[in-house]
Amino acid sequence: MERSTWGTRAGFIMAAVGSAVGLGNIWRFPYVAYDNGGGAFFIPYLFALLTAGIPILILEFTIGHKYRGSAPLSFFRMSGKKLEWMGWWAILVSFVISVYYAVIIAWAMRYTIFSINQAWGTDTETFLFSDFLQLTVEPGQTGSIVWGIFIPLAIVWIITLGILAAGVKRGIEAANRIFIPTLVVIFLIIVIRAVTLEGAGLGLTAFFEPNFDAIMDPSVWVAAYGHIFFSLSIAFAIMITYSSYLPKKSDITNNAFITGFANSSFELLAGIGVFAVLGFMAAQSGDAVADVATAGVGLAFVVFPAIINEFPGFNGLFGVLFFLSLTIAGLTSLMSITETYVAGISEKFGTSRTKAVLVGGGLAALISILFATQGGLFFLDLVDYYINQFGVAAIGLVEVIMIAWVFRKLDTLKDHANPLSDIQLGGWWKISLGVITPIVLGYMMFGLLRTNILQQFDTETGNYEGYSDMFVLTGGVAVAAAALILGILFSLGKWHKDHA
Ligand code: PHE
Ligand code: NA
Repeated sequence: MERSTWGTRAGFIMAAVGSAVGLGNIWRFPYVAYDNGGGAFFIPYLFALLTAGIPILILEFTIGHKYRGSAPLSFFRMSGKKLEWMGWWAILVSFVISVYYAVIIAWAMRYTIFSINQAWGTDTETFLFSDFLQLTVEPGQTGSIVWGIFIPLAIVWIITLGILAAGVKRGIEAANRIFIPTLVVIFLIIVIRAVTLEGAGLGLTAFFEPNFDAIMDPSVWVAAYGHIFFSLSIAFAIMITYSSYLPKKSDITNNAFITGFANSSFELLAGIGVFAVLGFMAAQSGDAVADVATAGVGLAFVVFPAIINEFPGFNGLFGVLFFLSLTIAGLTSLMSITETYVAGISEKFGTSRTKAVLVGGGLAALISILFATQGGLFFLDLVDYYINQFGVAAIGLVEVIMIAWVFRKLDTLKDHANPLSDIQLGGWWKISLGVITPIVLGYMMFGLLRTNILQQFDTETGNYEGYSDMFVLTGGVAVAAAALILGILFSLGKWHKDHA
């Protein structure tokens, strides 16, 4: 069977940007930057982008384009069986992330509706935890299904799987061609409105004010690297899968630069928008920006609703646009992460795309119901913490060491990419992948392992979030370990005859 391909270069870039631009840009980057040196954070951030982000993006685009398969099939073709497990490991980590990422999109979808009349009332925190999430059980217990989450969650999966089933060109590409320009327009409206708010300057000053001492702190560099991996969707199997659908004659390096810079522009824009709005909030309440600045669930679902309450006119509209942008940014990322296992399953077992969507996507959708229960938030928090730490960063480290040092494939890959591309790869690319990235990621993994192991034995600090040993082991450690073990098991099976 002929391999599916993107219809146009712009279509591929929009899909790659759609994957990269996600919740991370909107609710993660602004706070990470603010918390790690403000304006001075741009130095480690740019360094991480240019020595890890874009080089790995180029690496993954080249692998996908050269070997024309899902991550495990590409690694199989690269190494003859020896590296296939790495692809499955990345796919299983992606599977786990997709399962709870979908739930956050479902919340955003529901909050889009709540925005219309600010259904969250004045106490937005109580509303989130008690009324909406109905978080009334102990960590580790499920309680019953919360229908207010379940229903949007079902919609999220129907949209995502429907798009994937329609195919690479007619599904993923067509959807991104609508979603990405829409997102850009909505986002520009939000940011323009935000920076014209009273007090916006206060927030922007806090965001950009450089703290140059911070860049002497290794943890700031680790934060920059960690963020770049998540933000660019690298080491998730995503970019290998997407680039495997590129036509034979396609520029590789230039596409990677465009994707990387588009994602960064979006983050910067989000940082400006979010901090302008936080400045407005601070000016209204008389608090310092530092007291209202936060990230993640708290920012999007507690602070933003409170700000929308205070908005000078058109509150409903601003709220709808904000949550709609979260929803759209999330959907295009969810599509990309789900496509990793749809592609892997259909190639390994020789099933049709539709079947792979139903089986893989269906299983993910089913498991995600766990996070739509009363205890769902605790599961989400724990799984997210462990899978990100011991999934994405660990895969990135293993991937660069295997390819650069064990299998010594950088030159082969460089020779594949250069004749196709505008921007030529040379010393910068090889030193970034062979030396800088392994050192920084190695240091980062060592630190993470150390902290986590110490945490287990230190009765003073206790576990992450004070969760019980049992909960941490089964919900966090076991899930992260299972991704690796199952990945190895998957790689033992034979490829369907079409792909052997
Ligand atoms: N790049 C995404 C972001 O910044 C991260 C992501 C991609 C998460 C794909 C899940 C799936 O939010
Ligand atoms: Na991103």
